[in-house]
Amino acid sequence: MVSKINKKILLAVTGGIAAYKSAELVRLLRKENTEVRVVMTRAAQQFVTPLTFQALSGHPVATELLDVSQENAMGHINLARWADMLVVAPASADIIAKFSHGIADDLLTTLYLASECPVYIAPAMNQAMWNKVVTQENLKRLEQHGINIIGPEAGDQACGERGYGRMTEPVDICAQLITNKPTSLLQGKSVLISAGPTREPLDPVRYITNRSSGKMGYALADAAIAEGATVTLVSGPVSLVPHSEVSLVKVETAVQMYDEVLQRSGFHDVYIGTAAVADYSPGEIKQKKIKKHAEQTSITLYKNKDILGAVASSTPRPFTVGFAAETDDLERYARGKLERKKLDMIAANWVGKDVGGFEDDKNALQVFWRNGQQTFELMDKNELAKKLIALIAERMDEKSTT
Ligand code: C5P
Repeated sequence: MVSKINKKILLAVTGGIAAYKSAELVRLLRKENTEVRVVMTRAAQQFVTPLTFQALSGHPVATELLDVSQENAMGHINLARWADMLVVAPASADIIAKFSHGIADDLLTTLYLASECPVYIAPAMNQAMWNKVVTQENLKRLEQHGINIIGPEAGDQACGERGYGRMTEPVDICAQLITNKPTSLLQGKSVLISAGPTREPLDPVRYITNRSSGKMGYALADAAIAEGATVTLVSGPVSLVPHSEVSLVKVETAVQMYDEVLQRSGFHDVYIGTAAVADYSPGEIKQKKIKKHAEQTSITLYKNKDILGAVASSTPRPFTVGFAAETDDLERYARGKLERKKLDMIAANWVGKDVGGFEDDKNALQVFWRNGQQTFELMDKNELAKKLIALIAERMDEKSTT
């Protein structure tokens, strides 16, 4: 019995070493009763021959915009109309840039502009190219244009480097295309996040606080929800509104934050301490407003308990991630905290330099763990949060398998 074709997929292969994996993708897609037609850019043909895809798809491969024989058979407009879905795998940095700017100077870019069906892209490139701000900006534009982005994954790269940029495995791309449901990185996991500043009262009207906006913690909460986690956010006073699915616990002081976090940390899979917790608090809160009399006065401050260190030393303990804002010697201080506080990971950023940070919408991070590190260039905190959540999910996976 011949089974019914349930989807017509136009697979575009662009130039990159991952092009060989797309041959497997064609095979997997056809097993799911889809009809697959393949378009290849010139660069893609340097890596794999059209013959390979012709044999696997059972159709001639389209390569040229102005190929008379192909125009006769099925021109680019017809090909775009034919498809239920356009999938670009691997999607190079070049094609991402072209799509995001509407350039149409070859078959694939013209097809993209002519297509009205859902579009999926599976980026694959060197990690530095992936992390480049312009690539991230292009991707953001594509996302805003409704394009679905699959991956990429982190790991060893063909160029010998490590980091984000590996094309998602064909089996996972196939699953996402067929079920239309992306696999969530933190499905079934619970994440506890502390965010914002704390407020240490001196008297009924005055307090000591800091410039933390809470943006990073709230962005991480959103990103964790998007990856399928349940999220509890213990937040100091900020003017942000969390995602509707976040369970919010409001606190003011470092002592309150300590209590609320420690009560919950044992029941969570992950703890991320983004809060700028006051290091010291006044020992005594005056019941009445402090009057001004003397020319000089002083306040005695007492050291607060370290919430992050306490979570990391508790049993059972979640996968524990700290933050470190440093003005100098970033790696040495961050690694020192990683060891001393027994953390699984620490995300460090410069403060006091012109590079984002506390009140800014952007930030740059250098993330360290025992045997590795990863740099995230200056970018929007929401984007950064997605990357950090993905890195946490990856490190948790690695930890549980070692
Ligand atoms: O030691 P330092 O304050 O620089 O470490 C920063 C990290 O420790 C942040 O993740 C912050 O949330 C956490 N921290 C804490 N409790 C404190 C002070 C800092 O959890 N009392």
